[in-house]
Amino acid sequence: MNVAGDPPLPRAASLADVPVLGDLLEAVGAEGLWIATEPPLDRRRFAFHIRSFIERENHLCLVVPDEDGSLLGELTARPEGRRCAAVGLCVALRARRNGIGSTLFQACIEWARARNLSQLALKVFPHNTAARALYAKFGFVEGAPELRSIPRRNGDLWDAIPMSLAL
Ligand SMILES: CC(C)(COP(=O)(O)OP(=O)(O)OC[C@H]1O[C@@H](n2cnc3c(N)ncnc32)[C@H](O)[C@@H]1OP(=O)(O)O)[C@@H](O)C(=O)NCCC(=O)NCCS
Repeated sequence: MNVAGDPPLPRAASLADVPVLGDLLEAVGAEGLWIATEPPLDRRRFAFHIRSFIERENHLCLVVPDEDGSLLGELTARPEGRRCAAVGLCVALRARRNGIGSTLFQACIEWARARNLSQLALKVFPHNTAARALYAKFGFVEGAPELRSIPRRNGDLWDAIPMSLAL
């Protein structure tokens, strides 16, 4: 990745991106700290799941491609209730702190406003200070922590903080 200048812009994902989307999710999941996904990724299940984000008119799947065909970042959003969308995103470890998360979020907010949504919502682990700072920068507010609500493969239960942005 060339880090000079502005961060690369997101584009809508296509079905051809599904394998590299899986690679990115699996790599970030393997860090073991930030997202609910944990390796190994069930590729068939993932392909079925992500396909709906790519194909459904009221869903969003954005990717930021790298020059080598891999992905620097991705963001998904799906309807949650009538006028809210639930968002998830991740940026490859090698590409963080270059503005990619911000460009993904900016594009998501524009998508949500164009659809006349009134809210974006997500959940974040309390120890994820980078993500909490990114969301706070965009105006998200934190709700009461949902204690021991996210199961991990080793049997642990992690807390999650719900965050929302009024549009
Ligand atoms: C959270 C994440 C998406 C941020 O993406 P990013 O591309 O690194 O973010 P940006 O470069 O656009 O940073 C935007 C702002 O976020 C905050 N931020 C990002 N990384 C940070 C860090 N390590 N520490 C503190 N603040 C941070 C800062 O406010 C930053 O603005 P600034 O650079 O002007 O100070 C990225 O760290 C990531 O993918 N982490 C692993 C997966 C994950 O946590 N996903 C979200 C699960 S809820």
